[in-house]
Amino acid sequence: ESTLGAAAAQSGRYFGAAIASGRLNDSVYTTIANREFNSVTAENEMKIDATEPQRGQFNFSAADRIYNWAVQNGKEVRGHTLAWHSQQPDWMRNLSGGALRQAMIDHINGVMAHYRGKIVQWDVVNEAFEDGNSGARRDSNLQRTGNDWIEVAFHTARAADPSAKLCYNDYNVENWNWAKTQAMYNMVRDFKQRGVPIDCVGFQSHFNSGSPYNSNFRTTLQNFAALGVDVAITELDIQGASPTTYANVVNDCLAVSRCLGITVWGVRDTDSWRSEQTPLLFDGNGNKKSAYTSVLNAL
Ligand code: XIL
Repeated sequence: ESTLGAAAAQSGRYFGAAIASGRLNDSVYTTIANREFNSVTAENEMKIDATEPQRGQFNFSAADRIYNWAVQNGKEVRGHTLAWHSQQPDWMRNLSGGALRQAMIDHINGVMAHYRGKIVQWDVVNEAFEDGNSGARRDSNLQRTGNDWIEVAFHTARAADPSAKLCYNDYNVENWNWAKTQAMYNMVRDFKQRGVPIDCVGFQSHFNSGSPYNSNFRTTLQNFAALGVDVAITELDIQGASPTTYANVVNDCLAVSRCLGITVWGVRDTDSWRSEQTPLLFDGNGNKKSAYTSVLNAL
């Protein structure tokens, strides 16, 4: 196959990218994005601050620009993200307790109603665990509403759009030996045992010198899949874009039947949130890097 999306489709998977609405009038960008990828994640446009800038007043203009571009070009869409400590609008950052809990529920219902039946996977909750060795939940206004905020979010999401796969998504959870990975594993196992509706786990996979790729990533994916959830690589970028590391990540996904697909977090290095790390598959001129060829050959 000659594109990433077509190559991934040979095994029933997708190959996606994070897309930014502000780049959709850049024809070099859209040409690559349309040719190579068959799944789209909005880099920022479906987040809480973008979709509910004032309480109860939803705005889907930027999100819909991405959604419509994706669907008009035959791509599936991952939703990102409904409940998160970051990129909250000011009105939400200032809420706490029962009012914040209700605002979270209303937000999930409002966004999921707009896209009901149209989103293949939703990142319902993003980044709820602390970094480091504690294995604890991250402190946030949402966490302070009570430890059950995550399962409430998933129950709400299931009722709002029963056709979407509901994912928990986090970073620094790729290495099986890390406390954060174990904490997430214990949560997912508990959710499955108690019937909390979770369908998938997203591994962001932002690999860099501080949190490097480890070959036990495949074990991590296998162990989560064995709990009865799908897994996905949701925000892949690799500092320096080592072709070997990119191929290893692809091979890890392909080795796990419940690995749904891979999303890279941007198109060209110059589009990346970490552009100084040149972590993506295309250079700033839109040329294929050696990591691109490595990924295509591995798929
Ligand atoms: C990042 C975007 O790429 C940036 O443009 C934005 O300024 C901050 O958020 N984990 C996530 C993503 O789940 O939503 C983040 O995206 C990167 C880390």
